[in-house]
Amino acid sequence: MHVSLAQASTILKSGEVVAIPTETVYGLAADASNDSALQKIFATKQRPADHPLIVHIGNINQVYSWVTDFPETAVKLAQTFWPGPLTLVLPAQDHVSRVLRGNEATVALRVPNHPTTLALLELSGLSVAAPSANLFTQLSPTTAEHVEMGLGTHVPVLDGGACAVGIESTIVSVASNGNWQLLRPGMISEAEIALVAGRPPMNVDKTNRNNLDTLTPKVPGQHLLHYSPCTSVYLFNNRADLVHACEAIQLANQTCAALLIGDGDKPSCKIMRLINQPQEVAEALYRTLHELDALQVNQLLVELPPDTPIWAAVRDRLTRAGGSATESLRSQVISK
Ligand code: TXA
Ligand code: MG
Repeated sequence: MHVSLAQASTILKSGEVVAIPTETVYGLAADASNDSALQKIFATKQRPADHPLIVHIGNINQVYSWVTDFPETAVKLAQTFWPGPLTLVLPAQDHVSRVLRGNEATVALRVPNHPTTLALLELSGLSVAAPSANLFTQLSPTTAEHVEMGLGTHVPVLDGGACAVGIESTIVSVASNGNWQLLRPGMISEAEIALVAGRPPMNVDKTNRNNLDTLTPKVPGQHLLHYSPCTSVYLFNNRADLVHACEAIQLANQTCAALLIGDGDKPSCKIMRLINQPQEVAEALYRTLHELDALQVNQLLVELPPDTPIWAAVRDRLTRAGGSATESLRSQVISK
């Protein structure tokens, strides 16, 4: 159900949820200071309570109402990348809802770069918590239509057109001493963060459990199976294996479709080909996976981009879309 800006503001103020556009993906928004409204996000998404939410604020000055510390490193990152696809995880003030932060000591904040949502924050005078507007573990929405397909047409949606970035924000946690760590890759790369922060990410000795427990920021909600189409996904590091798997699937009288990145050989099934550039692939990624999913074939064959830093975010989402079953399923197919 599409709603106007004024209606969306009224809905938020009455403690209900509304889907909103951002430059990354659509979010399912509720008043970040109202626990019962926040519970409705978790219920609508069928999301576990220990997966905290990102608070969307209208400008950098509002950070001070949420955090106990806004270290210089984080200020520089916010000044450089906001409004934009960067989420900062910072030490939370006591008043910040425990529902919102899943009992973490931190709160995640970002200023989204979308004129409609910035206008909504201004009009309502609220800060809104908003996870991606999809059912837990499913594909994120990048259009109002995706939201309605995933959550149902009864959910109110503020239509702001297709999302320009196309995948979720980069999440960076910054400790009071300025140490930082990448919690989720996004289109703002780890190298860009390091450049602006003026220091490399915090180095954690993963062999030392005590060290891990005390120093590693938690990354709740980063399930291996996430961002998934309903159709099972096989991932491929090279085109020849993908073409071979397509042949094997068709020999077994099953159907498949493929997502290819860049030029090269084509398998003999329905294909969708994306230009070999990270920004273009990110922008089209979920839309293309939604379209491939709608074909209702038995299997989706997905080509992974190279394992290089500029592709980190796209590879992260595709790997999660593939889930943990992919390797064993793929080897079954290829060995046929
Ligand atoms: O681009 C985005 O970030 C989109 C748009 C709507 O803003 N939102 C989004 O939200 O992707 P969601 O809930 O699907 O993912 C948020 C991630 C989750 O993995 C969550 O666990 C993590 O952020 N997160 C939230 N608060 C956190 C905290 N205090 N500490 C660590 N991780 C946190
Ligand atoms: Mg999500």
